[in-house]
Amino acid sequence: MMATATDLRRPEIKTELPGPKARAIIEADAQFVNPAYPRPDFKLVAERGQGVWVEDVDGNMFLDCNAGVAVCSTGHCHPEVVRAIQDQAEQLIHICGTDYYYASMPELAKKLDEIVPLPRPTRTHFANSGTEAVETALKLAMHATGREKFISFFGSFHGRTLGSLSLTSSRVAQRLGFKRQVLDVVHMPYPNEYRNPFSADDCGDGGVVQGAVNWIENRLFKTTTPAEEVAAIVVEVVQGEGGYVPAPAGFMQELRRICDEHGILLIVDEVQSGMGRTGKMFALDHYGVKADIVCIAKGIASGLPLGVCVARADLMDWKPGAHASTFGGNPVAIAAALKTIELLQRELVANSAEVGAYLKRGLEKLMGKYDCIGDVRGMGMMIGVEFVKDRLSKIPDPDLRDRVEMETFNRGVILLGCGPNSIRWSPPLILTKENVDVALEIFDEAIAASR
Ligand SMILES: Cc1ncc(COP(=O)(O)O)c(C=O)c1O
Repeated sequence: MMATATDLRRPEIKTELPGPKARAIIEADAQFVNPAYPRPDFKLVAERGQGVWVEDVDGNMFLDCNAGVAVCSTGHCHPEVVRAIQDQAEQLIHICGTDYYYASMPELAKKLDEIVPLPRPTRTHFANSGTEAVETALKLAMHATGREKFISFFGSFHGRTLGSLSLTSSRVAQRLGFKRQVLDVVHMPYPNEYRNPFSADDCGDGGVVQGAVNWIENRLFKTTTPAEEVAAIVVEVVQGEGGYVPAPAGFMQELRRICDEHGILLIVDEVQSGMGRTGKMFALDHYGVKADIVCIAKGIASGLPLGVCVARADLMDWKPGAHASTFGGNPVAIAAALKTIELLQRELVANSAEVGAYLKRGLEKLMGKYDCIGDVRGMGMMIGVEFVKDRLSKIPDPDLRDRVEMETFNRGVILLGCGPNSIRWSPPLILTKENVDVALEIFDEAIAASR
């Protein structure tokens, strides 16, 4: 039976936001917690989550279209994931996989070998976060090639520990106060099709892809960055924190070619774009090429901390002690990851593609209605909406983006900004078309109220 408008479950906002209990918690947080957390203007104080719904401490119910920043891939507290965590917690919580053994560690590594966009065979290092997965990739690339230079992209985000921070460049706040970068990284513009950063001369008739290729081959390699000294090019197939900007068609193929010609490794950071988020298991799968090293975290374990660095097996020929982590690949996190992958393969990658396309069509319709939406882009359930003064001038409108984010929240839908003036849609991959209808109706109202 078709759902009617009245059947659709909607958010319920009962108090002012933040409500009284939330305000007390925010006050305590302001006193005792690290003030460097980059929290948005709206304040969500969560108490429980179920599926796509999050209830705050004052009993307000939100429709979550952010999934804890692209982490709760199977939705909040998916019953099968909860059961897998509970069963594992009753059996073995920790023993230290870098000194001892347990079956689920090679089981997950074998599963990753089957699904990651890398030539097989592969090996997996287990860590606890995205940044640790990236640190592993950087160390491994230096160790395997004997080279020290890296190429990264403006607008990229790879983490905030010192190695990954040398790559990260989506905001100055991430760098300010930390002086020199630890690694030898050269940054170049990302081939953003909506805002082509390259000159017409560089692009020729090959568009942004040709512009980027020229930048690498004719500028970097011929000036600051000799190709034979480059260990790796590190790239997000869809820039995440930088604004949900997908790589243009053909770009990953060109990077692959350049890497192969010069013995450079291709490190693909799928921390945000991986695990079904783009409607395929990995964003790189849309481009038909393979990487040398892939970094994964966020959505892999439905919210438990797990980061992995998967690499071509021949690259990982380092000796015992070269790299390891006490907690990395904790049995409980691995149990959650195995169940998450099962659910993704069973139904959620397909749902991400189908319902994501439906969401994107709805957002494109809104673009027809509002001249302040400059661009709607992305694949699956990784969709960016860029706000501008008007579509002709394309002048970024970060204030409008912030107002839309706030107005949407006040109406009970959780969405988070990314880049200077975009909003990211990164819902749990269980989102239904009915959820989309509700979320889009509220997003529409929020834009109308923000202009
Ligand atoms: C593409 C990408 N890489 C790395 C990271 C760092 O992950 P973590 O915050 O788990 O260290 C992030 C986090 O947002 C990310 O989006």
